Amino acid sequence: MSSSHGSRSLVLLMLALWCMLARESNGASNNVRVGSISKVDDAENFHIYYGQTFKVIKNAIDGKSYLLIQNTSRMAVRTKYCTLRIKSFVIPLLNYSLDTQSSQGGVPVSFFELLGLLGSLKGITSDAVASPCVLKLFEAGEVVKLDKGDQQGQVLSQFAAHFISNTDQPQTCNFANFFPLSESTPLQRAEWIKFLGAFTNLETKANQVYDAVKASYTCLSQMAANKTKSFKPIVAWMEYEKNGSMWSFTKESYKLKFIEDAGGENIDKSINKVTYNASDPDDLEAIHAILCTVDAVIDETRSSDPQNYTQTTFLENIGVEDNSCFAFLTNQSIWRYDKRVSQGTTLDWYDGAISQPNLVLADIVEALFPTGNYTTSYFRNIAKGEGVINISSDMCDRDASLPLVPIFPACG
Ligand SMILES: *[C@@H]1O[C@H](CO)[C@@H](O)[C@H](O)[C@H]1NC(C)=O
Ligand SMILES: *[C@@H]1O[C@H](CO)[C@@H](O)[C@H](O)[C@H]1NC(C)=O
Ligand SMILES: *[C@@H]1O[C@H](CO)[C@@H](O)[C@H](O)[C@H]1NC(C)=O
Ligand SMILES: *[C@@H]1O[C@H](CO)[C@@H](O)[C@H](O)[C@H]1NC(C)=O
Ligand SMILES: *[C@@H]1O[C@H](CO)[C@@H](O)[C@H](O)[C@H]1NC(C)=O
Ligand SMILES: *[C@@H]1O[C@H](CO)[C@@H](O)[C@H](O)[C@H]1NC(C)=O
Ligand SMILES: *[C@@H]1O[C@H](CO)[C@@H](O)[C@H](O)[C@H]1NC(C)=O
Ligand SMILES: *[C@@H]1O[C@H](CO)[C@@H](O)[C@H](O)[C@H]1NC(C)=O
Ligand SMILES: *[C@@H]1O[C@H](CO)[C@@H](O)[C@H](O)[C@H]1NC(C)=O
Repeated sequence: MSSSHGSRSLVLLMLALWCMLARESNGASNNVRVGSISKVDDAENFHIYYGQTFKVIKNAIDGKSYLLIQNTSRMAVRTKYCTLRIKSFVIPLLNYSLDTQSSQGGVPVSFFELLGLLGSLKGITSDAVASPCVLKLFEAGEVVKLDKGDQQGQVLSQFAAHFISNTDQPQTCNFANFFPLSESTPLQRAEWIKFLGAFTNLETKANQVYDAVKASYTCLSQMAANKTKSFKPIVAWMEYEKNGSMWSFTKESYKLKFIEDAGGENIDKSINKVTYNASDPDDLEAIHAILCTVDAVIDETRSSDPQNYTQTTFLENIGVEDNSCFAFLTNQSIWRYDKRVSQGTTLDWYDGAISQPNLVLADIVEALFPTGNYTTSYFRNIAKGEGVINISSDMCDRDASLPLVPIFPACG
């Protein structure tokens, strides 16, 4: 753990060198191994730069540069940076651990699965994960649960990298901030697979997966645009906070983007701003008036027992008895994203849905333009009494060390 100006300027020098090399080879073709580099097109919170025997990830989440040194280079043995602005890692990673502990899912394991990296996963900080294969490895003892509370960070520092998504914690030198949720659109979030590809020399694979997911997403979005008639269906993402009996509409941009891309329309921004107190008759009247304009509801209310969250729960929370004006009731369109649940409350929405947003989009397109011909992945329609799927280790139906094959819904 040394922080010397000498080492910092050395890296700056290397970066300068790289910039020169890059400029020289621009247009010409020396040195650059096409296919083994990633270019970040959509995501905003990280960038990758390539040298001969190293790479640099600039991570906007923690403001650091991660110097990724190839294990074959002489620098790998001699160099170890852990300063305020620079961390070094030897790649490809021999092993790694994940911070899976967080109220909203922790590090999404599905990104690692898509790259086939579960074989070198050694530890998780919570077994509340939505991946059948990680659960299986955990039950077999190949992945162990690590004590995050460990003060010295000794347990967490034994691995080549420890990936976290909750930056509000003491960090040791091997911590890498992997935070797809920081981005504001679904595709930007999915592109973080390239971040992991850089750590493991799997750029080609990461590029392939991202390109295919993006192509699928784009096609579905065009298909949805084709389906839109004169008026787009109006959608409300809404959440009930039992505590103060308050309803509110989402402000999260990636959710609003999903609706636009699915050919729907979000309720007006002026409505988004407000919270509504379900115990206050005036507020209740106001929210009912808004809901009379809505064609589909996505109820995001957290539940300690998703299986038991039904249409009845929703109607109770929103204080509705007379349902005459609600199109989402007559047309049976009340959705929740808790279809895939692990350990009672851990939602795959915070994991698989981040790395494969095309599946989420396909779900929403089906919600807005029902064909009855498509089985949703993450969404269930509680207006039609659809229940949850409990994720368990016996649903791991592949060799866990092989890449998870992404799913591409029919399109076009
Ligand atoms: C570098 O990593 C690769 C892949 O893990 C491994 O096969 C190789 O033995 C490593 N080389 C050195 C010098 O550590
Ligand atoms: C993980 O890899 C590092 C080298 O990066 C090695 O020193 C350590 O022993 C490995 N730990 C485990 C548990 O495999
Ligand atoms: C959308 O409609 C256009 C024009 O009719 C057509 O060319 C295109 O293939 C359609 N796209 C999809 C994804 O259905
Ligand atoms: C709301 O719930 C949280 C825990 O879920 C609790 O700490 C807090 O005191 C509650 N607030 C009220 C006003 O009941
Ligand atoms: C909601 O309204 C009820 C009844 O008017 C009131 O007791 C409660 O404090 C209000 N809640 C909030 C969070 O304002
Ligand atoms: C299911 O939810 C209802 C309220 O909607 C509650 O009364 C009931 O006790 C719950 N059942 C279980 C098994 O938790
Ligand atoms: C309700 O569904 C019917 C049949 O699918 C459709 O024609 C109608 O436009 C829908 N109404 C609303 C308000 O979405
Ligand atoms: C899922 O698990 C819950 C308990 O966590 C149980 O109540 C429910 O019946 C299960 N559902 C299915 C479809 O297996
Ligand atoms: C349902 O899916 C099948 C197979 O993908 C397709 O042949 C059929 O046309 C679809 N039907 C409708 C109504 O979309």
